[in-house]
Amino acid sequence: MAIPEEIINEIKYRNDIETVMAPYVSLKRRGKNLVGLCPFHNEKTPSFTVYPENGSFYCFGCGVGGDVFSFVRQIENLDYIDAVKLLAERSGVTLPQDGYDDSMQKLKNTIYEINRETAKFYHTYLMSSAGKWALDYYIQRGLSLSTIKHFGLGAAPDSWDSLINHLKGKGYSIADMLQANVISKSQRGSYFDRFRKRIMFPIINIRGKVIGFSGRAMPGEDKMGGKYVNTADTPIYKKSENLFGMNFAKNHCDKQIILVEGNMDVISLHQAGFENTVAALGTSFTAEQAKLISRYTKEIILIMDSDAAGQKAARRASEILQSTGLEIRIVLLPDGKDPDEYIKKNGSARFKALLEGAVSEIEYRLLSAIEGIDISNDDGKLQYLGRAAQIIAESADIITRDLYIGRLCEKYGVSRTALTDKVNELRKHNQRRQEKRQFDEVIHPKFDRGDVNPDKRLYPAAAAAEETVIAILLQHPDFCETAIKQLKPDDMLTSTNRRIYKALCECISSGRSPDISYFGEGFNSEEVGYITYLANSEKGDKNALIVLKDSIKLILDEGVIKKSADTKDMSVDDWAENLKKIIDTKKKGK
Ligand code: CTP
Ligand code: MN
Repeated sequence: MAIPEEIINEIKYRNDIETVMAPYVSLKRRGKNLVGLCPFHNEKTPSFTVYPENGSFYCFGCGVGGDVFSFVRQIENLDYIDAVKLLAERSGVTLPQDGYDDSMQKLKNTIYEINRETAKFYHTYLMSSAGKWALDYYIQRGLSLSTIKHFGLGAAPDSWDSLINHLKGKGYSIADMLQANVISKSQRGSYFDRFRKRIMFPIINIRGKVIGFSGRAMPGEDKMGGKYVNTADTPIYKKSENLFGMNFAKNHCDKQIILVEGNMDVISLHQAGFENTVAALGTSFTAEQAKLISRYTKEIILIMDSDAAGQKAARRASEILQSTGLEIRIVLLPDGKDPDEYIKKNGSARFKALLEGAVSEIEYRLLSAIEGIDISNDDGKLQYLGRAAQIIAESADIITRDLYIGRLCEKYGVSRTALTDKVNELRKHNQRRQEKRQFDEVIHPKFDRGDVNPDKRLYPAAAAAEETVIAILLQHPDFCETAIKQLKPDDMLTSTNRRIYKALCECISSGRSPDISYFGEGFNSEEVGYITYLANSEKGDKNALIVLKDSIKLILDEGVIKKSADTKDMSVDDWAENLKKIIDTKKKGK
């Protein structure tokens, strides 16, 4: 499934990376490169570097990198094909209609159809007499028939094969049903319906297509499989990138979007007129979800408990939200209720008042910090003020700090200078810590910590040499043939490098030039970042051919040593033979 190389090159040529990035990042020239604040993570000193020479970028802080396609893909939250399409359109390049990408696109379309058919099946069952148990439950939870239709709610019968049979009847294959994750395969090799005796919430994307399901067990029947069973990631569904209710909320969010925890909360709030509500799909809130929201609205309201778990969740969400530019406000929900229960008990008007009283993140933290402290005595007050000073110190805005310092002084009867001094002292301390951390990040780029290539911890020397080989070949493709003769992909000891080198060899033997665009598919974004880093490193600057040969030799030697470590099951003779080889290798190395 590849778009022809010439077309990729044409698109790349016509979409200058600096121009494409301009709306998202402000870049300053530094030598032959450009630097700016990374749009993918929150930072104060620029570690996002753009290399116009080869049209690539890399962030030393978070490890994101790639070419113009990877950039668009990540900043716009698209898959590879859609990023290519977008850039093609932007620059007036016409993509061939057919002849590429067929099989994957076909599979995706089939999964969409299966999902639609499955949602219809569950809904029809719910509305039939056999589904009365489920309809009764929905009604008892306060949902109206029109809400049930609006959300396309349904129910899965108490059966192992009714969906399978239904879909078979419609002509779908077992393989495609598995890909859509609506059925499962048992250990004995038989197939069965994934959702049984559950009420079913279809998950619908912003284009209105059913992309997955969330199935809730009946009360008291959640022993088998848990309270919720959700669709796992499929070719058309990634739960970390979708939000339940977003298909409706996107049309009602001029002012804000409300983020709640549960599907039932979303449905109940929509029914009560708050159609700007969404929920993360059984994950903790992710950066992709934040980005999706920020494309539609300016403000997000988080609904949280005041307990420790709620505070942690609010903290995490607001960290994630910082780089999106969304305003954050938080509603403290009284006594551990969820929004669904709250609105049923207190009505829309009270809920609306809660929303209007939503506080900023800093106010929420100041309020929550009281938890567990008895502020009726001086010790408690001091303890609270200590926590509060730390919270205020974390705000980057001097007016915000001043405002809250003022409020606390008034409330707790302490002097303004004392609290201001305390806050400033904490700020200095925090700043030093942050500087140190940023320095560490630049000195030890992300992959050095072993995130991208975990085997590097096992074979540090070999991994470093492998990095050099890959870097040199990316910079001097003309050395590839020499390298391939001496070093086979399987000779690489660490798995990530082995995969990259294998792709590189395949690229060369198919006659393509191995630039970063070649790695757009088959490698995740961190890996593409790593490859970009290598492509721009200085490893290949001097005496490249000699360095290349030395590195290959080191890798091969390390490989012999590694094999000897796997000698547990060797006969004595083999073991002696092996030992001799290692000694020889080491001698030659001297
Ligand atoms: N969730 C999940 N898997 C679980 C429990 C919860 O995926 N085992 C997700 C679901 O998306 C659920 C959300 O977390 O909607 C919140 O969980 P919870 O509060 O337990 O469920 P509610 O949606 O509030 O369901 P109900 O009100 O019917 O109990
Ligand atoms: Mn609930």
